[in-house]
Amino acid sequence: MVSQPDSQKRDYRLYRARCRGGRRRGLLGDRVSPAALDGLRWGFGVHSPRQGWLEDRLRDHGRTGELILGVTEKRETPLTAAMLATDPSLLTREATTAGGLDFTGRLLRPGDAAALGRFFDELSDEIRDLYCPHPLNSEYAGKLCSLIDYAVSLRFVAEIGSQIQGYFILDLGVRDSDIARYLEHGHGLEPRESCTFAPSVADACLSSGIGSALMPLILEATRRLGRRRLILMGGVRADNPRAQHFYRKFGFEQVGEFFAGGIDNLDMMLTLPLN
Ligand SMILES: CC(C)(COP(=O)(O)OP(=O)(O)OC[C@H]1O[C@@H](n2cnc3c(N)ncnc32)[C@H](O)[C@@H]1OP(=O)(O)O)[C@@H](O)C(=O)NCCC(=O)NCCS
Repeated sequence: MVSQPDSQKRDYRLYRARCRGGRRRGLLGDRVSPAALDGLRWGFGVHSPRQGWLEDRLRDHGRTGELILGVTEKRETPLTAAMLATDPSLLTREATTAGGLDFTGRLLRPGDAAALGRFFDELSDEIRDLYCPHPLNSEYAGKLCSLIDYAVSLRFVAEIGSQIQGYFILDLGVRDSDIARYLEHGHGLEPRESCTFAPSVADACLSSGIGSALMPLILEATRRLGRRRLILMGGVRADNPRAQHFYRKFGFEQVGEFFAGGIDNLDMMLTLPLN
């Protein structure tokens, strides 16, 4: 059965278990990122930020001798933009932060204009300095909600009650300016297999765990849409340690640095395993 973590490293813990009949289906070392584990079904070595998570999964599935890795317990169904247009709730999940805050993670809908406008209007200058994917005001929120196109961009929101507290952009593809910069770092990006990511949460929710609790849905969407690379929209500021920590926690790696707008920035990239 499940033993105590071999390592107490902050984010990643290695568990070992005896498999039924001694059969091992894959051996992964410690410090394996959750993203690397998602999509795998059985094996050894698991990331489990919450104590008891793994034991619960084993119990749920009536397994006593095997580990289930990551959040994916069976082969994921591929998704298309057409499927999402017909049923956006395919990417709706109830989530809870490590601190116990419940919220709904889902795709932005046409009816969200007012709530998204409020979210944008209330963002502090501190966040606006760190996050500027497009104008952040009510007018632009209205435009975004009237021009939803899941073939181009998935915009996720974290909703608590009727209020939007998080807004995570997952563009399908990469911008020419980002492609050029990544090439300079020695990484050719294939737009059809890449997504561009830009997350933000409301000031009151910074470091509340909403970002971490929403990430599994973002990664699931990325994989199910057949994409295996995530890059950051315009990089991340070198003086934004919280966002850098957040990205590293989910397996992003720094691939280069650049100077823009008088500021040092880092490019970070996450590569997911092929399903
Ligand atoms: C980046 C962002 C989306 C993450 O969402 P979040 O809900 O705050 O993230 P979480 O609370 O799940 O995780 C934040 C992590 O950063 C850590 N953190 C907080 N402040 C930190 C700091 N100054 N230095 C390093 N790590 C820090 C937290 O401890 C937490 O790590 P843990 O889960 O290992 O304990 C959010 O912080 C945000 O909107 N920031 C402002 C806008 C921004 O920077 N966007 C990204 C632009 S590239």
